[in-house]
Amino acid sequence: MNLTLYVWRQKGSGDKGQLVPYEANGISNDMSFLEMLDVVNEGLIKRGEEPIAFDSDCREGICGMCGQVVNGIPHGPRKKTTICQLHMRHFKDGDTIYIEPFRAKAFPVIKDLIVDRGAFDRIIQAGGYISVHTGGAPDGNAILIPKHDAETAMDAAECIGCGACVAACPNGSAMLFTAAKVTHLAMLPQGQVEAARRVCVMTDEMLGQGFGNCGNHYECQAVCPKGIKVQFIAKLNREFIKAQGR
Ligand code: SF4
Ligand code: FES
Repeated sequence: MNLTLYVWRQKGSGDKGQLVPYEANGISNDMSFLEMLDVVNEGLIKRGEEPIAFDSDCREGICGMCGQVVNGIPHGPRKKTTICQLHMRHFKDGDTIYIEPFRAKAFPVIKDLIVDRGAFDRIIQAGGYISVHTGGAPDGNAILIPKHDAETAMDAAECIGCGACVAACPNGSAMLFTAAKVTHLAMLPQGQVEAARRVCVMTDEMLGQGFGNCGNHYECQAVCPKGIKVQFIAKLNREFIKAQGR
């Protein structure tokens, strides 16, 4: 396939940035989107030009490191698919593709397609943990957990912290991310001791980091590569009200 790319190039957070056209020629259907960018970068390096900066790590859809907006959609056009797992067979020869970084006030651009998602780390640092004595692995089933609760906790724990939900939200809200992190601990007995404090400090930190409020647009759910549901936001709100009562 031969493609035309318009890629956001920005030297640093103080730079204005612009979309720059590139030709991506001889692209195989079997390549991932990031492999296609690797090919483009090899060409740029050979010509002595600066390669396009973008984030990736596992390239298996599990680490949450990658993130780009493709033709206006965070992680591109495939449902429940990270950009590293998006394959070029979903595009056509001759296509024009626009590639931009995640855009949100709380995610400043570092360079080209790389944004600083440290704000998510600070939300987790505020309360996204449990305090326990460590030691040997405990016996299985020592604490019985109802099947529904275990499954809900696991569904919430699927969040990989990629930030697509924030990039898709017109308010730049991090409610889906924070809700997933609060819920996966709130559903389990181990998360109960710090539950009230957790939901308050994580919500405070979320607002302090410059994320907006939830406006029930559901755009976050639509782009989430892990299928995190907005029902978890309702759970976050219930946890928050419960914590106020305490
Ligand atoms: S809720 Fe989904 S879109 Fe948001 S950070 Fe987690 S995995 Fe990414
Ligand atoms: S690089 Fe790890 S999820 Fe995409």
